[in-house]
Amino acid sequence: MEISSCDVLIVGGGGAGLRAAIAAVETSPKLRVAVISKVYPMRSHTVSAEGGAAAVIKPGDSLEAHAYDTISGGDWLCDQDAVEAFVREAPREMLQIEHWGCPWSREPDGHVAVRPFGGMKAERTWFAADKTGFHMLHTLFQTTLKYDSIARYDECFVTRLLVDDGRCQGVVAIELATGKTLAITAKAVILATGGCGRVFPFTTNANIKNGDGMALAYRAGVPLKDMEFVQYHPTGLPFTGILITEAARAEGGWLLNKDGYRYLQDYDLGKPEPKPVLRSMELGPRDRLSQAFVKEQEKGRTLEGPYGHYVHLDCRHLGAKIIDKKLPFVRELCLKYQNIDPVKEMIPVRPVVHYMMGGISTDMQGTTALGGLYAAGEAACVSINGANRLGSNSLTECLVFGARAGKSAAAFASGPMPEPGRAVFAQARDEQSRLENFLRKTNGTGRKERVAALREDMLKITEASAGIYRSGPALEQAAQKLRALQDRFSDVILDDRSYTFNTELTSALELSYMLDLAEAIVHSALKRTESRGSHQRTDFPARDDQKFLAHSLAFRAADGTPRIDYLPVTITRWPPGKRVYGK
Ligand code: FUM
Repeated sequence: MEISSCDVLIVGGGGAGLRAAIAAVETSPKLRVAVISKVYPMRSHTVSAEGGAAAVIKPGDSLEAHAYDTISGGDWLCDQDAVEAFVREAPREMLQIEHWGCPWSREPDGHVAVRPFGGMKAERTWFAADKTGFHMLHTLFQTTLKYDSIARYDECFVTRLLVDDGRCQGVVAIELATGKTLAITAKAVILATGGCGRVFPFTTNANIKNGDGMALAYRAGVPLKDMEFVQYHPTGLPFTGILITEAARAEGGWLLNKDGYRYLQDYDLGKPEPKPVLRSMELGPRDRLSQAFVKEQEKGRTLEGPYGHYVHLDCRHLGAKIIDKKLPFVRELCLKYQNIDPVKEMIPVRPVVHYMMGGISTDMQGTTALGGLYAAGEAACVSINGANRLGSNSLTECLVFGARAGKSAAAFASGPMPEPGRAVFAQARDEQSRLENFLRKTNGTGRKERVAALREDMLKITEASAGIYRSGPALEQAAQKLRALQDRFSDVILDDRSYTFNTELTSALELSYMLDLAEAIVHSALKRTESRGSHQRTDFPARDDQKFLAHSLAFRAADGTPRIDYLPVTITRWPPGKRVYGK
C-alpha cells in the first residue's frame, strides 16, 4: 500500500471539483491540495454539458426573478437562503471564468450573449455555442495547472473514506493502471463526483456516473437528501440517450407528436408561437415536458421505433445558418449517432434520465454531517434544485458551490489538527484486504453471480418503479427486489484477477455503490406520498405542503437498508404557490 498525504483532497475532477481546488489554493496558498479522479479530469462528465449556464446579466432581469424561477421550478422544495446566495454569486463566478479564458458566445456588439432556457422567464443562460461544458471544464482545468500546490491522482478509483475521531481523514483508492492500493490522508475531503444517472438504464449520463461520492458518504453515515427526485430531460436520442440540448428549443425548435401537432399546447404550458419566443411552451420546465410525453404516449399520439416510443424535435425551420452557428454540436451528434441531418430532417427524441436533484446533504458552505467532509456539484444536495432543477442552473451551481466548498474546506484544513492516528491506517489496511479478497474470491458457496446480470436486473427495477410516474405498490416491490439483489451481490465472482486496468473489478465496485443508491431512491420515493416536481405518484397525485414541504433524508441503517427522515425546507421570501408557465 502506498501512503501519501495532503491538506485538502478533492474527489472528482469535473466542474465542481476543479472549481473547489482553485478556491482552496486561493484561500490558503500554503495548503497542499490534491484532486483524485477515476478519469483524467478533461474526461469528467461536465465536458458533455451543452446548453449553457445561468446567471443574471441583462438589463430588465433581476436576482429576484432568477430566484423565483428556480424556486417555482423546483416546486417549492428549494432552500430559499441557498437559492438567494446562488443567484447573487452566479454573475461573479461567470465573469471570473471568462477572465480565466472561457470563450462565451457574444452578441455582434461584443456583449455576452444569453439565450432563454426551460422554466427561466428571462434570457439569462450564458453559452459557448452548444459546447458549454467542454469550454468551462477546459478553462477550469487549465487554471488549475497554474498552481504548483494542486497535485493530481488521475485514474484512481476511491473505494472508502477513512473516518476516525468523528472526522473524515482521507480515502483509500485503487490506482487503476497498476491495481496498487493508495491510502491518502487529508485534513479535509470534498466529494465532487457528480450524479448517479447510471442507476437507470436510459440516461444522458456517461458510464462513469455511478454516484461514487454519494455512496461513500452514505456508507460513512452521512444522509442523502431528496433522492426521490430524478430528472428526466425531455429530449434524448432514442437508443443512445445522447442529449439533444434544450438550446435547440431555446433557438426555436418545436416538439411534434405523430400527427405533426405541437402537443405541448394541450398541457397548460402556453400557446404555440410561430417564432421562437421567451416562455414558449417548448421551454416549459423539464418535469412538465417529460410528463406530457407520457400522457401523449398514453393517448397513442407518439411514434414507435425499435427503441420505444418517441416524438419529433423539429429544427428545420431554423435553417442551416442558425443551426451551424448556435447548435453545431446538435447537428454533429445527429449526423454521427442518428444518421440524420437536423437541417433537413426531424430529430427523434424521448425523455431520458439526466440529473439527480438529490445527493449528499450539505449546508450552504458544502459542509456535511461528518467533520472534515464536504460535497459540491451534482453529488451534493444544498439544496437549490428542489423537486426539479431548471436547465442551465447546474453548471453555475458547480462554480458557486464548488468555490464555497473549496473555501470552507481550506479554512477547516488551516486550523490545528492532530496527525492521523493508528486507527486510520488500520482502516486503510482493512480496505486493502477487502479489495484483495474480493478480487481473489472463488466460487465457494456454489453460487456465482455476474456483474452484468445483476446490473441489468437493477436497471429493470429502477425503470419500472422510479420513472416519470411512480406508484406505491411498484415502489414496494422494487424495494424488496433491490434487497434481494444486494444479497446476490455477495456472490459476485470476478473472472479477471489482474491488477492492470481491471474494469471488471471497478464495474463491480460501482455496481455495489449503485445498489445502495437505488435503494435510497426507491425508499425515499415510497415514503413521499404526494406528487411534487419530478416525483409523480399516480396514487397520490396532489402536492401536499402540510406533510411534505420537507426534504427527505436517507440514512443507511445497520442492516444496510435506508431509513428515511425529514428536514424542513427553508422558506425566506416566497411562500409555496402555483407553478405557472406560458404566460
Ligand atoms: O439541455 C441542456 O443543454 C442541458 C442543460 C442542463 O442540464 O443544465
